[in-house]
Amino acid sequence: MTVSSAPGKVYLFGEHAVVYGEPAVPCAIERRARVTVESRDDDRLRVEARDLTLDGFTVEYSSGASDAPDVNVPTPLVEAAMGYVDGAVEQARDVADAPDAGFDMVVESDIPLGAGLGSSAAVVVAAIDAAARELDCDLTPEEVADRAYRVEHEVQDGQASRADTFCSAMGGAVRVEGDDCARIEDVPNLPLVVGYDGGAGDTGELVAGVRALRDEYAFAADTVEAIGDVVREGEDALAEDDVSAVGKLMNFDHGLLSALGVSSRSLDAMVWAAREAGALGAKLTGAGGGGCIVALDETPATETALSYTPGCESAFRAELDREGVRAE
Ligand code: MEV
Repeated sequence: MTVSSAPGKVYLFGEHAVVYGEPAVPCAIERRARVTVESRDDDRLRVEARDLTLDGFTVEYSSGASDAPDVNVPTPLVEAAMGYVDGAVEQARDVADAPDAGFDMVVESDIPLGAGLGSSAAVVVAAIDAAARELDCDLTPEEVADRAYRVEHEVQDGQASRADTFCSAMGGAVRVEGDDCARIEDVPNLPLVVGYDGGAGDTGELVAGVRALRDEYAFAADTVEAIGDVVREGEDALAEDDVSAVGKLMNFDHGLLSALGVSSRSLDAMVWAAREAGALGAKLTGAGGGGCIVALDETPATETALSYTPGCESAFRAELDREGVRAE
């Protein structure tokens, strides 16, 4: 039996624009997905998912076959989750040259699903690492990141960037620009606070919406480029340990993302509650449309204010996790 875990993340800067080759800076947080893998005697997969902000489900099937899973949660969510797990298993089979390997898998996660905290990337990264190790293949975090990216890219119809998967595999704060990914060393301690509205956006639809705007209006394309400028300024602020400039630039980034239509009433309400509570900055994180915001505040004021904000289901402090994928 093999167990691996991998962290979720928040975007300090750059979601959406990263899809068009602008840089982005995601940052791993201490919320993890854990995947337990045990080899089977046949080629089937049995996947049990717990805590994915669903009621949990169990499904057993032959990979690639069309047996309709009889499960207790809405099928699109199960299909999405299974797409990621299935893709991860295919990657492990490929690494080990074991196309018929079957597994019993348990997926546990304390990262809200589809809420902008990189839940799917964390599950894919942990699943590839655990399944590969179960087949006696040790991969480097970079190799896991690359294979996890291939899975996300396929499940998200070719629209995924490397940001989520690279950040989850490597941990810490990372810089992603196209295919160039690197860890950012010496990141200051960032007092991150997350607000969660209990919902989730549809990443594919949101990315397609930005693409359509960008195709229609030159100023939407300029907005995407302006996000890239904010990211570059943000990197300088991080290098100078200037946390208050980081906050200011997060505010700017949120404004540009709103202009691109990916914020929502609840995300805006949480962003404004955080700012009014004295946060140094606040923005949505991830694809948007619902899910999470991230704010910077050393004091408890933002967490408290968010917990009283209508539309905010939970608020929590999120420490930077400097460790990426790991064996448990
Ligand atoms: C989703 O977490 C972030 C997006 O930039 C898409 C991606 O980078 O794959 C919206």
